[in-house]
Amino acid sequence: MNTITAAITAVGAYVPDFVLSNKVLETMVDTNDEWITSRTGIKERRILKDTDKGTSFLAIKAAQDLIAKANIDPLEIDMVILASATPDMPVASTGVFVATQIGATNAFAYDLQAACSSFLYGMSTASAYIASGKYKKVLLIGADKMSSIVDYTDRATCIIFGDGAGAVLFEPNYEGLGLQDEYLRSDGVGRDFLKIDAGGSLNPTSYETVRDNKHSIVQDGKTVFKYAVTNMADASELILKRNNLTNTDVDWLVPHQANKRIIDATASRMELEDSKVLVNIEKYGNTTSATLPLVLYDFEHLLKKGDNIILAAFGGGFTWGSIYLKWAYDKK
Ligand SMILES: CC(C)(COP(=O)(O)OP(=O)(O)OC[C@H]1O[C@@H](n2cnc3c(N)ncnc32)[C@H](O)[C@@H]1OP(=O)(O)O)[C@@H](O)C(=O)NCCC(=O)NCCS
Repeated sequence: MNTITAAITAVGAYVPDFVLSNKVLETMVDTNDEWITSRTGIKERRILKDTDKGTSFLAIKAAQDLIAKANIDPLEIDMVILASATPDMPVASTGVFVATQIGATNAFAYDLQAACSSFLYGMSTASAYIASGKYKKVLLIGADKMSSIVDYTDRATCIIFGDGAGAVLFEPNYEGLGLQDEYLRSDGVGRDFLKIDAGGSLNPTSYETVRDNKHSIVQDGKTVFKYAVTNMADASELILKRNNLTNTDVDWLVPHQANKRIIDATASRMELEDSKVLVNIEKYGNTTSATLPLVLYDFEHLLKKGDNIILAAFGGGFTWGSIYLKWAYDKK
């Protein structure tokens, strides 16, 4: 009997046209291009300016890009997972709306929220459904309209985040390619260090919460940075050891793009040379659930069938982990 593994067989993406550069941010808050570049590696980010469009718009565009590129019939999709920290609405699943809009009307869908680790956790979920043998096509979309929860007077957060979406298709593989191993962790100690204070069941929206600006993301950047560096590096090192991999066995590191210094620390712990570390943070900033698929999309041309890829992420909550994946195709 052949064992089923879950492989990524197609990638799609979408970012909005509007570019918010460091230079423009200099006119909005007390910051400068040199500080942002040296502290984070970010030069610009994309922003969805249309006030009548939410995260679903980005997710639909990325999914449609994948469907067109891979030439698949949306009716064949069994399941849609929308990884996102910024759903269109608090209630009424955004993933369900997206699935219907892209014509995946035979699929069931839902949202998955684990802050910046949403897509990594979603990979685990999508793979498990495929490996069960019950589902043949699972579409995983990572999409976030971070600009909808960013306070553009807070220089500690507004320089970091951007909007975007990416999508991957998981299908069964019988050659042993696809997801090989995963190490996923979480720790509620992180709740106080990266959050939106109001608008949930604990502190519902009120006149006071709006007046006091409690609906934007706030973070203790230094503390988040410390946990991110340690945990992303630990998780990546652990997954290498557990699979008897050394730095020469790894073809690519696909890290969450939150801060170039966090990426460098992870790569250094894995003893990886720079050329194996895939980075596009300078173009998009931190797009939360969209960073990993946007990296796969931007560097798809470099990935070869059989390549060993380590994906790693860290996010609010805290949530973090690492996945070992064997790439399943050469780009046509
Ligand atoms: C936010 C982050 C870039 C800040 O970098 P940092 O090196 O930790 O900087 P600090 O917060 O210690 O601030 C250092 C100084 O720069 C200042 N500063 C903060 N933001 C600034 C900005 N945008 N421009 C200029 N100066 C800034 C601070 O006020 C501080 O000044 P002080 O020393 O006079 O008090 C960094 O902490 C980070 O990336 N954290 C992780 C964030 C993250 O990954 N979040 C998403 C979860 S995945």
